Amino acid sequence: MANASGFLGHSVPTLGRTTQFQHSMASHGSVFCSSDFIPKRVFCCSAVQGADKQASGDSPTEYRTPRLVSRGCKLIGSGSAIPALQVSNDDLAKIVDTNDEWISVRTGIHNRRVLTGKDSLTNLATEAARKALEMAQVDAEDVDMVLMCTSTPEDLFGSAPQIQKALGCKKNPLSYDITAACSGFVLGLVSAACHIRGGGFNNVLVIGADSLSRYVDWTDRGTCILFGDAAGAVLVQSCDADEDGLFAFDLHSDGDGQRHLKAAITENEIDHAVGTNGSVSDFPPRRSSYSCIQMNGKEVFRFACRSVPQSIELALAKAGLNGSNIDWLLLHQANQRIIDAVATRLEVPQERVISNLANYGNTSAASIPLALDEAVRGGKVKPGHLIATAGFGAGLTWGSAIVRWG
Ligand code: ACO
Repeated sequence: MANASGFLGHSVPTLGRTTQFQHSMASHGSVFCSSDFIPKRVFCCSAVQGADKQASGDSPTEYRTPRLVSRGCKLIGSGSAIPALQVSNDDLAKIVDTNDEWISVRTGIHNRRVLTGKDSLTNLATEAARKALEMAQVDAEDVDMVLMCTSTPEDLFGSAPQIQKALGCKKNPLSYDITAACSGFVLGLVSAACHIRGGGFNNVLVIGADSLSRYVDWTDRGTCILFGDAAGAVLVQSCDADEDGLFAFDLHSDGDGQRHLKAAITENEIDHAVGTNGSVSDFPPRRSSYSCIQMNGKEVFRFACRSVPQSIELALAKAGLNGSNIDWLLLHQANQRIIDAVATRLEVPQERVISNLANYGNTSAASIPLALDEAVRGGKVKPGHLIATAGFGAGLTWGSAIVRWG
């Protein structure tokens, strides 16, 4: 099992500058390091404004946790795109033994969008990215990294460079894919922050896009009702450390849980016939494809209800916050019952939970940026709002991030 913590508090003592740290904290986020050879690092605090956001009994400074960042990063633009074809629960009831009531009650899903014909996930991702750039008022030429979070690329070697090309990013920015199923977007956000803070990047496009419909067994009523296709994107930009918008994160994976949710490689039956005699039996290598999604829904459900609140609580604690400090809870949109269970555990009231699952189903890595974009454009999420977001899914992977919008 792997795990990664946020950039933080506990790393402070290893720097051995306790005196400067204490002095720095007394004056809130002042520059920490004076050496010319070491990048300047700044201690900043989780600056949550408003008495209503304070943990009960805490003064603002008491619940702020020092964070060490050399540069800050902020989320300044979002975009999304969906395929034209809408498939309702009633439509599905025509091809598998199911009905609208079962799907609605067990999942909260009513409709989903599905890529068909010549529709391309790469085009969808490009459209979402373009909208994010427009909102951020950043030219494609100024993008210096494109992260495409997807488990369903249209090229085995990755889709991100194709998106970079389609956007017209002329400076050949680094573009690559991140594969972490429904946790992909959260991992992409954290990766963007790492590249900005440690690598000198300035404008990083984080795209979450998936077309799981291409890997669904449309005869399996246990899975085909859940998934839809979409793309969402966020522009993450460098900023001063004291404006930093990624407060903390918490990331995990557990390969042992892969048996509960997978779309594993399959061998092409025809190619088994090749070289059955003697020493050449293993050559040429067999051509492979992926099986449809296989899922033990109950196990994944239990895993999500157990691990996601734990992860968010850990990230909140690293940021010196609790559930009452956040404006929005934005989870991977997999099942409304999971969203409700996590919100209840974190004591976040329903009106502060973002959900658009009813319209799109589970769109994997796209679900968080798609829901975020709708909430931003709909005026729910406003600049300065604090969001606790979490992804979970195949791998198994899961993780959370505490971010500020704008
Ligand atoms: N319509 C009607 N009946 C159905 C359907 C359907 N679509 N699907 C299953 N059933 C039946 C089952 O056969 C079963 O019948 P039985 O009692 O006669 O055996 C009954 O309904 C109950 O089935 P369960 O599988 O126990 O239903 P459950 O309440 O667990 O809901 C679901 C299933 C919706 C899949 C749920 O387990 C779930 O959402 N799990 C989490 C999935 C998830 O979040 N995945 C996220 C990650 S995806 C990724 O990373 C790619």
